[in-house]
Order: sequence, then C-alpha cells, then structure tokens
Amino acid sequence: ATAQIGVTGLAVMGRNLARNLARNGFTVALHNRSPERTRSLVAEHGDEGTFVPSESMADFVASLERPRAVIVMVKAGAPTDAVIDELVPLLEEGDIVVDCGNAHFADTRRREEALRGHGLHFVGTGVSGGEEGALRGPSIMPGGSAESYRKLGPIFEKIAAQVDGVPCCRHIGPDGAGHFVKMVHNGIEYADMQLIAEAYDLLRAGLSASPAEIAEIFREWNGGELESFLIEITADVLGHSDPATARPFVDVVLDQAEQKGTGRWTVQSALDLGIPITGIAEATFARSLSGHADQRAAARRAFPDAGEKWQVDDRDTFVEDVRRALLSSKIVAYAQGFDHIRAGSQEYDWDIDLGGMATIWRGGCIIRARFLDRIREAYDTERDLPTLLVAPWFADRVGAGVPAWRRVVADAARAGVPTPAFSSSLAYFDALRAERLPAALIQGLRDNFGAHTYHRVDREGTFHTLWAGDRSEVEA
Ligand code: 6PG
Repeated sequence: ATAQIGVTGLAVMGRNLARNLARNGFTVALHNRSPERTRSLVAEHGDEGTFVPSESMADFVASLERPRAVIVMVKAGAPTDAVIDELVPLLEEGDIVVDCGNAHFADTRRREEALRGHGLHFVGTGVSGGEEGALRGPSIMPGGSAESYRKLGPIFEKIAAQVDGVPCCRHIGPDGAGHFVKMVHNGIEYADMQLIAEAYDLLRAGLSASPAEIAEIFREWNGGELESFLIEITADVLGHSDPATARPFVDVVLDQAEQKGTGRWTVQSALDLGIPITGIAEATFARSLSGHADQRAAARRAFPDAGEKWQVDDRDTFVEDVRRALLSSKIVAYAQGFDHIRAGSQEYDWDIDLGGMATIWRGGCIIRARFLDRIREAYDTERDLPTLLVAPWFADRVGAGVPAWRRVVADAARAGVPTPAFSSSLAYFDALRAERLPAALIQGLRDNFGAHTYHRVDREGTFHTLWAGDRSEVEA
C-alpha cells in the first residue's frame, strides 16, 4: 500500500481533484465504476504525478496507506450511499471516507453517525470552484471529526487555493458542518448571480445598451469594490457573441434558469431555522419563475404594456446608482447568508468561526470576492456582530448607497422591470432599521381570530383581548 489518498468517482470533478493532488506531490489511488475513465486519466495525465489505478474497489482500498483516506466524488443522494455501502466493509477502524459532492448536510449527518458506528470517520466536505477550481485550487470546507482533519488538513490545505499565503481550507466543524456551509455558499451564489442579472437587465432597459456595452460596465466595476469572480465572468459572458448567428450570446440562450437544488436546500433550511434569507429565497424563486413558460406567455398576452417608457436622464449617474444598488443588495445577501451559518452552527453545535468562513471563501470558490476580506475583518473584530450590515465598512457603503438604491428600485418598478432581489433586499434593510413594524397588527389579528395572545410594549406578561365580549384585556 503506497497511496496517501484515493479518489473514487472520476467524472470531471473527481478527475481534476485527483490531478490536483498528484500535481502537489501526493500519491493518489484511483478508482471508477467503469474502468475506462481510470485508464484515460492515467493515459492522458499520468505524467503529472504518481497515480495508483485500480479496477476493483477492493484493490483500490488495498492500495491505500493506513489510516486510509478515500474521497468519494459521485452524484449526491443514492449514488453516494451506494459507494459508501461498497466501501465500508473493505475499510478498517480509523479510516476516513470523504464525500466531496454537494450532499445535503442532513444526509451527511446521517452518514457520519452510521460510519462512526463502524469506527470510521465520515467527512462531508464542501468543494467550490467548479472544474477549474478542482484542478488549480478550490475552496475546501471539510466537516467531520477533528481527528480526521489531522490527516486531511495538510493534504487539503496544500491543494486548496491560497490567498496571501493562507489556504482556502479549514476544518469547519463536526459532522454536517462542511456541507452546511457549502450549501449556504451556493445560496449566496444564487443571490449574487440574480443580483448581477437584475443589474444587467436594468442597464439594458434604462440605457438601451447592448450586451457588449454592458460587458464594459461590468469590466469597470470589477476594478473596484465589486471585484469578484462572478462580476469578472459576467463581463466575459455578456461580451460573447454566438458564433452561429453573430448575435449576443445572452440573446440566443433560453431565459429559463435551472438548478440542481443547493439553493432550494438553503431556503428550506433557513425556513426551519427561522432566518430571513430573503435575497437567496428571491433568487431561488426567480429561477423557478423563469421556468414557468406557459404562465409567462399567458401573462405577457394579458398585460403587454404594463410598464412605463423608461427615460434615463444621465447615463453616468444611472450606472453609478445601479452599481451602488448592486453593492448594497449584495451586502444584504452575504449578511443573510452569514446569519444563516451562525444559526445552523448554534442549532447543531458546530461552533463555526464566521471570520474563518470568510477567509476560506476569499479564493478558489465561485463567490470569491474582494470584499470577503472585509467580512473576515468584521467578524474577527466583533465575533457576535448582530448583522454584517452594521460593521463599519459595510454600514458606510450601505448608508451612502441608500438614495441610489431607492431610485433604482423605484425606477424599475415604474418601468415594469422585475427586480425581485434588489427590491426585497431594500425591503429587508428598511424592515431591519424600522422603529416600529406592522408586526404589531399581525399579533392583533392573530389574537382577534384565534386568541393567540400578544405581548405589550409597556408591561411584562402575555395578554388576550376578549374581542367577542366586552373587549377587556385578560392576562393569558
Ligand atoms: C461551486 C458551485 C458548484 C455548482 C453549483 C451549481 O461552488 O463550485 O456552486 O457546486 O456549480 O452547485 O448549482 P446549480 O446547478 O444549482 O446552479
């Protein structure tokens, strides 16, 4: 047995992760259900490092040094369970199974518990960065036991992206913590992308600009506070022309956004935990809405001219307004995502370090962005920050951007351009900072129709008004 780590499941993510490990000097055991993939990996990239290919799972396991570390990189759900079931009888106490797929954290918690019963470590690990990241340095979010991290840490920290000499990998917390934060990462990714898409749509409607012109605006934005991978590739995608028709690429792509489910899971989990991640939820629903082609066609027929003609007075002011609205809404999305992680960490006893999370998302992952450094600073300075919105750097940006944010949302509403994420982020901001919320009326209504009781602003206790009687108040 010579291999330091193994990878089973050699589709593109597994293959690139295996190559990354080999390029960094680790001896990598390889296995795939159909051996052709294993053979082609060795044939095409065998010179990148030391691979130990096996055609059977038993040989694969036997080729690993103890304690064995096996990365499973197959589809989430039943395929992952099938591979685990095949692996477990071949492993010995202390061995480590690492699931690097996008698993649901509840599945990870279940699997971790089951494998712990066999004396094995199960490490649900979030890996972000797409195919390129897997090969050149992803952001890695391992959960599982601290003991498993003693073996995995040095390996993962070496193959991860590095920012200012700091690896984009750290032990997140026990059992499902790694997959939980990867899930929220993807939720933030959904929000980020929806906000970018709305900004593009606004620029297009307000300026009657071409995608190529808007690409330029994004390129410029990428030189400032908004600098991020997603803004960078937005410029790339908007600047691209379809080779077949020479039309802008975005004009030939069907406008129905798909999803594999991590955004939906994020929203479901936030509902369970009672955390208002409204930006992520709107982004997820916006994808669903885009897919309802029949409803959209019917509504389009019924209301062909519901918006007003949009006349932007000053181009530069408008572009700057949209930039500010985008930055503020993006700050809301991250604030909500970090709230969600904090709530998950409390609920499941994970003790997740929020500053640490921001640190390992600075590079490698899809949501990597310049301002993650600021998020790191914010949580490092004040561990119990009530919301990212009030940390000085963010409060300055959001505060200064409020008039622009309102202008953009109001203009969009008048013109009939849908901005679900921009508008809901602004509503979230206004709700958070409101002196009084109409929630008091909700409480009154609940008490009126269902005797659900309420609390008072001026006295301790739980009260009910005898609505059907003499309307006196009783202590419940
Ligand atoms: C990443 C990505 C990756 C994948 C998304 C796509 O961090 O590398 O998030 O995990 O691209 O899961 O998700 P949807 O298909 O749901 O958009």
